[in-house]
Amino acid sequence: MPRKKAGNKQGKQEPQKKRNKRFQSVRGMRDILPKEQPYWQKLRKVVEKIAIDYAYGRIDFPVLEDKELFERGTGKNTDIVDKEMYKFKTKGGANVCLRPEGTPSVVRAYLQHGMASQRKPVKLSYSGPMYRYDRPQEGRYREFFQFGFEAIGEQDAILDAQMIQMATRIFKSLKIKNVALHLNSIGCEECRPSYNNLLISYLNNRKKSLCMDCKKRLNKNPLRVLDCKEEKCTQVVGQAPQTVDHLCGDCKTHFTSLLEYLDEIQIVYSLRPQLVRGLDYYTKTVFEFFTEDDEGAQSALGGGGRYDNLVGMLGGRETPGVGFACGMDRLVKAMKDNETEPYLLPIPKVYLAQLGDSAKKKSLRIFEELNKAGVMIAESFGRGNLRTQLRQANKINAEIVLIIGQREALDDSVILKDMNSGGQETMPAEKIVKEVKKRLKKNAVLAKRIAKQKAEKEKKELSKKKKAAKRKSKKK
Ligand code: HAM
Repeated sequence: MPRKKAGNKQGKQEPQKKRNKRFQSVRGMRDILPKEQPYWQKLRKVVEKIAIDYAYGRIDFPVLEDKELFERGTGKNTDIVDKEMYKFKTKGGANVCLRPEGTPSVVRAYLQHGMASQRKPVKLSYSGPMYRYDRPQEGRYREFFQFGFEAIGEQDAILDAQMIQMATRIFKSLKIKNVALHLNSIGCEECRPSYNNLLISYLNNRKKSLCMDCKKRLNKNPLRVLDCKEEKCTQVVGQAPQTVDHLCGDCKTHFTSLLEYLDEIQIVYSLRPQLVRGLDYYTKTVFEFFTEDDEGAQSALGGGGRYDNLVGMLGGRETPGVGFACGMDRLVKAMKDNETEPYLLPIPKVYLAQLGDSAKKKSLRIFEELNKAGVMIAESFGRGNLRTQLRQANKINAEIVLIIGQREALDDSVILKDMNSGGQETMPAEKIVKEVKKRLKKNAVLAKRIAKQKAEKEKKELSKKKKAAKRKSKKK
């Protein structure tokens, strides 16, 4: 019996349309296409090298976490948790969320896996997607990527300085210029309460001039008012008491030594009394790295600080910690703005062409053999036309073209065409790996010699030009 087709009277358009719907990525989330990847590859390589150099072990943790981890860690009243977290109930009734940042997850893993018994500091690095339901705009996404470094178990300010040094080295390696380091100390549980009281009373006297959000923040989280970007609030905050003037002895010493360490390694910083960062766990040091794009728009490339109470807040024994994280999407943009050379993928120097069905079968094996021997090969297996394939070989500037036709497939041989000399010869398939490797090596030696000769010639010409210019200026 013929199946009844669904649809309306006007030509059964609707179901067809629905079936053909083109999907788009979800708002605020995007695909990172192959042409973008060389920048990401370069960034990942630089970060991995820093992790090795400074002895940070890699950690990966789930994208989905217990919602309460961030409510307690990052802070219930922060924008990240209060407004921007993707949270939901699982079928089993668990309250989970997509991780909005990495620090609480690292501390959870540190406690869960008994890392507290390891030699301190425990140094961990990570990278991956984070999720914040914020208003998307240039450089701000709902799914974005971060890499981060956390050192747990050491309170000496030398670690804070080393974190800043690591970030600075990453920016330098990526050739990102004009990165400003903003720095502040926001005290600890010893000195913060009296400072908060001072700030609250200052702000209460000017409450009318604050934005709606800050009026609410005032009593719950007064430090955040300092960070508000609303013009009317920045005016009020300009004259507010500063955290650095109200630090306890311990925090003051800590901050002074951090500044001394930074001076020692010649890292330029700018003290920012209004910098508090939007996360609740910070104590003492807070810092942020800013850059400006061509249009003058400021963007935070990364930020971090000390969190001496976080391990305790998440159920562990009081243990100090410090770390930072950078936005990888923003770093990739900054790399492009600074014309940083991306990671260059190696280009194959050998092209494998085939003609006819049996040759095609053979070429699959030859490809594998050469590849296993470490020779990169290009091919267009889907194409049968030899001219098209040779054109492709020319396009990638192949040094060697291997051709397998009907006859070669029959007697198990391969035609080797040397594109430099133009000569070609047929040889048994079993010898091809050795021969290709030999020729590539010879070509590489030759190319090196030519490059050296060229560089020497250029050097001579330059010095000739300089001498001529000197003579000319002497005559004058
Ligand atoms: P954060 O300042 O919230 O700190 O984020 C670090 C960096 O992630 C920002 O400076 C920015 O480059 C990038 N970022 C944040 N939100 C977005 C977004 N919506 N789109 C694109 N990039 C974004 C933290 O996450 C802390 N866990 C840092 C830390 C580690 N503190 C101590 N250890």
